[in-house]
Amino acid sequence: MTVRTWVDPVDVHAVADRVEALFRSVFGGTADGVWVAPGRVNLIGEHVDYAGGLVLPFALPYVTTVAVRARDDDQLHCVSTHTEERWHGDLSEVAPGHPPGWAAYVAGVVWALRDSGTVSAGTGFDVAVHSSVPVGSGLSSSAALECAFALAVADLLGLPTDADGRFGLIAACIRAENQIAGASTGGMDQTVAMLAHPGHALLLDCSSGATRLVPIDFASANGRLLVIDTNAPHRLVDGQYGNRRAALEKACAELGVETLRDIDDADAALGSLTAPESVKRVRHVLTEIRRVSEVVELLTQARIADVGNLLTSSHLSLRDDYEVSSVELDSAVDAALEAGAWGARMTGGGFGGSALALVPADRVEAVVERVLRSAARASLPTPQFLSAEPSRSAHRLRPTSCRWSR
Ligand code: GLA
Repeated sequence: MTVRTWVDPVDVHAVADRVEALFRSVFGGTADGVWVAPGRVNLIGEHVDYAGGLVLPFALPYVTTVAVRARDDDQLHCVSTHTEERWHGDLSEVAPGHPPGWAAYVAGVVWALRDSGTVSAGTGFDVAVHSSVPVGSGLSSSAALECAFALAVADLLGLPTDADGRFGLIAACIRAENQIAGASTGGMDQTVAMLAHPGHALLLDCSSGATRLVPIDFASANGRLLVIDTNAPHRLVDGQYGNRRAALEKACAELGVETLRDIDDADAALGSLTAPESVKRVRHVLTEIRRVSEVVELLTQARIADVGNLLTSSHLSLRDDYEVSSVELDSAVDAALEAGAWGARMTGGGFGGSALALVPADRVEAVVERVLRSAARASLPTPQFLSAEPSRSAHRLRPTSCRWSR
C-alpha cells in the first residue's frame, strides 16, 4: 500500500469545483453560492477554552466547502463527498441527538439561529459538502463545516457577517455542536475558523471573549511548524472530553470560583483541593494558561526557537496531569524531539488526532523520518504531515460579489 507522507493543501477552487459538481449531481441546477471555512491547529492553550483560559490557534490552509441553495420550505437536505450517509428532514424536528451523525453540525446551526430568534421558520437549504481538512484528525473539520454553513445562511438571509455578526454566528455554531451534535467542546475552534487572519495566530481570551491577532513567522527564524496527523482517529463525542470538563466544574465548585481563570493564587488553590486527580487537572489548566502568555511574549520578541520548550512543557502537562495524550501522540512528540525539534506537543482534544512540532528548517526531513520510523517500530498507524501556514478565516468563495436578501 502506498502511504501518503505529505498532505498538500488542495487549491481552494479545486475543492469548490468538486462541491459544486456534487451539488449539481444530487440536487440538480446550481447552488446559490459556495462558502469555505478552514480547519485549525492550536499552537498552545490546550483544554483551557472551557475553563475561561487563553488559547492561541490559527487557521490551516485546509478547508471545508459548502455549496448551498435556499429553499422555500422547512426542509434540509445534506450530502457529502466523504460518506454515503445523507440526511434530509424537517428543520422543526431538529433536537439534541437528531439528526444523528455529521448532519447534526449543519442542522444544528439553523436550529440555534432559529432558537435565538435570528432566523424564522420558512427557509430550508440544500447543502453539499466537500472538505480537504482530514476528518477525525483533531483539526476541527466539524467546526469548519459549521462555520462555512453558518456564513452561507447569514449571506443568504441577509444577516450581518462583519466582526459583530460573526460573533453571533460563532455562538450559533457552538450551540449546534454542544446541544445538537452532543460534543461539549469549548468554542476555540469556531472562533478561529471565523476570525483567523493569514500570517497570524488568534489570541482568544475565553473569559472575556477578547481577541487579538499575533503575527507568527516561523520562517524568519529558519523554523517550520509541522502538523503530524497520527492517523489514530480522535473522537470528541465520547466520554473522555466531557469527563475532563466535568472534573474542572467539580474543582471550581470546591474552590468557590466560577472558572479557573478567577484564581489568583495557584499554589493556595492547588493546596486546598482534596482529590489528587483534581490537583492534576487544575494544575494543567493553570500552568497552561501561563504558558500561553509566555509564548505570546516570545513571539512578540521574535524568539521563535524559545517557544519550543513551552510547547514541550505543554505536552508533558497534557500527558501527565490532564491525561489526554495517547501512545501515538507520545510517539510522534518523542521522535520529533529526538530528531532535533525545538519543541513538540499534542494539539487539539487529544486521545489520538494530531501533534505539532516546531523544527529548525534543516531538521525537517530528519524529524519526518524519525516520526515515521518510531510509529512503524511500535506498529502504530503511519502518520502523515500537513503544512501549517496561518491562513484565512471563513468566507464566501462564489459568487465573489453578490447580496441576497430574502
Ligand atoms: C477540541 C475542542 C476545543 C478545545 C480543544 C482542546 O478541539 O473542540 O473546544 O477544548 O479540544 O483544547
